[in-house]
Amino acid sequence: MNSAKLLDQYGRSLTYLRISLTDRCNLRCTYCTPQHNFTHIHPREILTYEELLRICGLLAEMGLKKVRCTGGEPLVRQGVLPFLERLSTIPGIEEVCLTTNGVLLEDSAQGLWDAGIRHINVSLDTLRPERFKSITGRDCFGKVWAGIMALLDLGFDKIKINSVVARGMNDDEIAALASLSQQYPIEVRFIEFMPVGHNKWGKQLVVEVAEMQSIIEEALGTLRPVASERHAGPARLFQLEGAKGKVGFISPLSQHFCSTCNRIRLTSDGRLRLCLFSDFEYDVKGIMRRGASDQALSRFLLDAVQNKPENYSPESKTGCPSCTRAMGTIGG
Ligand code: GTP
Ligand code: 5AD
Ligand code: SF4
Repeated sequence: MNSAKLLDQYGRSLTYLRISLTDRCNLRCTYCTPQHNFTHIHPREILTYEELLRICGLLAEMGLKKVRCTGGEPLVRQGVLPFLERLSTIPGIEEVCLTTNGVLLEDSAQGLWDAGIRHINVSLDTLRPERFKSITGRDCFGKVWAGIMALLDLGFDKIKINSVVARGMNDDEIAALASLSQQYPIEVRFIEFMPVGHNKWGKQLVVEVAEMQSIIEEALGTLRPVASERHAGPARLFQLEGAKGKVGFISPLSQHFCSTCNRIRLTSDGRLRLCLFSDFEYDVKGIMRRGASDQALSRFLLDAVQNKPENYSPESKTGCPSCTRAMGTIGG
């Protein structure tokens, strides 16, 4: 057993790994898809499930507690359910979660439950089918909604809806989306639109969390702060009076949360990324495929995490010069 701990030089304990399982996606959300032609990563360059399990096993020996699988869209990758099941059995890993666009969720919900997954975040930016089609490029609102209902029927513990808010895209639906938390035991999270991977970001499109919060309070009443969960990501949580669920806010631009960041990331092509907003990456796949022993790989990972940036540079607030990768390869 390895007694080294995943601590960075600022004393942050890195217990939460996000893995982009594939850069492929069955939607083309306007805020995520790069503006210019993009090519997919060659399948040979994607980390295999065996490679992922090896990395996660070594990280778990050093204190990793939570793994969130993202994409692209993780459910489009073949064999994902048995992989998730194996991931959940790694000693030390307490939570395996998924972030999905929900298109394939209705058919996968039972399989995900059987694989031991209980926490699922579903991206949904609108409750209007026509608007869904214009944001994502596909007429799939009904499928995503049916997927969310399937999760509720099966009794998943934590169901979260992620709504990226952009001015003129869906800012007129903030209250309607928040009111889902009154009706259902769901956490509805509003996310500030981030400049990532040459997307169609512009400062004028950003709706800051403070504004979202006052829109909700004006329409639905006071938002009472509530404590965040164990191994939580960056959302700040609230509850409306009498609500079954919660409302969360993720404010990477207006109020960054770097000092409490507990996350590292594995890109779909096998690089360890220490901050969403830093393109400085470590080629884990390269050293594995050159035959590194477990001991050498653990050392590599441990040395790499030392270099997690303290925070991202202030200029990234306006232009994000350092994050050039497409969101799908990082996974959010
Ligand atoms: P849980 O707390 O585990 O539910 O996860 P999460 O909210 O971190 O995960 P999810 O995949 O649902 O991501 C929600 C949003 O938060 C996405 O837009 C992510 O890009 C964003 N996000 C998550 N972690 C970070 C981070 O470290 N930095 C920044 N800037 N954004 C993040
Ligand atoms: N800004 C904020 N959130 C984003 N997501 C994708 N692109 C962006 C962006 N530019 C969100 C998705 C998904 C999560 C993983 O990241 O909505 O829920
Ligand atoms: Fe949309 Fe997620 Fe696909 Fe990006 S990866 S296009 S946010 S569904």
